[in-house]
Amino acid sequence: MRTVDLIAKKRDGQALGEEEIRFLVLGYTRGDIPDSQMAALLMAIVWRGMDEAELLALTDALVSSGSRLDLGELGLVAVDKHSTGGVGDKTTLVLLAALAAIGVPVAKMSGRGLGFTGGTLDKLESFAGFRVDLSKEEFIANLRRRGIVIAAQTADLAPADGKIYALRDATATVDSIPLIASSVMSKKLAAGAQIIMLDVKTGRGAFMRDRAQAEALANTMMRIGQRASRRMMAVISDMSQPLGAAVGNALEVKEAIQTLHGEGPADLVELCLVLGSHLAAAAGVGKDPAAARWQLAASLKNGTALSKLAELVAGQGGDERDVYDPSRLPSAPAVRIVAADREGILTGIDAKAIGVVAGRLGGGRSKKGDAIDHSVGLVIKARVGDQISPGSPLLEVHARSSEDIQAVESQMRAAFELGHDRVQAPPLLHKILGM
Ligand code: URA
Repeated sequence: MRTVDLIAKKRDGQALGEEEIRFLVLGYTRGDIPDSQMAALLMAIVWRGMDEAELLALTDALVSSGSRLDLGELGLVAVDKHSTGGVGDKTTLVLLAALAAIGVPVAKMSGRGLGFTGGTLDKLESFAGFRVDLSKEEFIANLRRRGIVIAAQTADLAPADGKIYALRDATATVDSIPLIASSVMSKKLAAGAQIIMLDVKTGRGAFMRDRAQAEALANTMMRIGQRASRRMMAVISDMSQPLGAAVGNALEVKEAIQTLHGEGPADLVELCLVLGSHLAAAAGVGKDPAAARWQLAASLKNGTALSKLAELVAGQGGDERDVYDPSRLPSAPAVRIVAADREGILTGIDAKAIGVVAGRLGGGRSKKGDAIDHSVGLVIKARVGDQISPGSPLLEVHARSSEDIQAVESQMRAAFELGHDRVQAPPLLHKILGM
């Protein structure tokens, strides 16, 4: 088999066979196939798509590039949740700590920032020393000991997804249902949780801008999970404006900690409680979602979820004092409020533009392997529907220098759309599937 022939086959719209997909994925993971050829193949997939058999073969090849944990065989039942990528989406940090606090074991494999969206691994690495590259044995040991583990794709677990994910980030090959579905589900199947919640984002700050596409992605991932005998649930949630106020790694961690003190933004808290209540009830904690919701809400008020985050951080190489005193987390030297220069009603906040700016400030990567700055980002000070006057704060920028702030100032202002007519804030949840 020659890689170049398989790229041409996909480019010309033909389906690849199972063996061909395995050859490409495993060859790239071993280093036999260079980035240039994998990038060309990914772009061909973005344009041509994949049929069901190709999708299943791709997911399987990504999983079998490493070990597949069977938590059931180890006598463990765990839950997992995955977002398809959003702006300001720090749900995992809050939700998983709250679930673990009420006794629901959580085993999660996460990703890094992708395109204009943030990634849980990058957020967690705002804690100095936090290790995401766990071996299979460490993953299981952490799950047993603390009831919570969050790890990256490693040499042991879904290594092919780790490598391809980083390449997609740098080659504009993210927005594709088969690539997203296989990437997400390979991590879920490798990490072994039996109950999986998908948070499929839709709107301007999501890869699936359109609701029908988001639903197609959700259904595709649910099918992959159900074939592997997983209990699958999904929500289609809104990402037309950022979730919560903070966008940027350490800033989002700080907002997650504030939420674990019971003082979180309403949209973030509600999303965590909806996702968490269904996951917990499916895992047998709480007699139904309403009872589980009550327990989760209590964990956000009584400090137990906060202690779980501290345990997670300490257990994976960080310092739990950072959780109890977030001023120890990275902070940017230049902080400035950007205010409105005219009057109007805030009719929209372009979440994608906000994500792009956070990346430009240093919070994202423009090429594979770039280092990121955990301290930079934005804190949004206005919500859709607010009456804005000249001088009203729109957002607070955290940057490496005032020159960096100046460079993005007009782009940031343009992300806040002002009109004359009253608008309804978009609903947080568009649809719930499989619950
Ligand atoms: N999350 C993932 O894990 N993979 C994607 O491709 C997109 C979001």
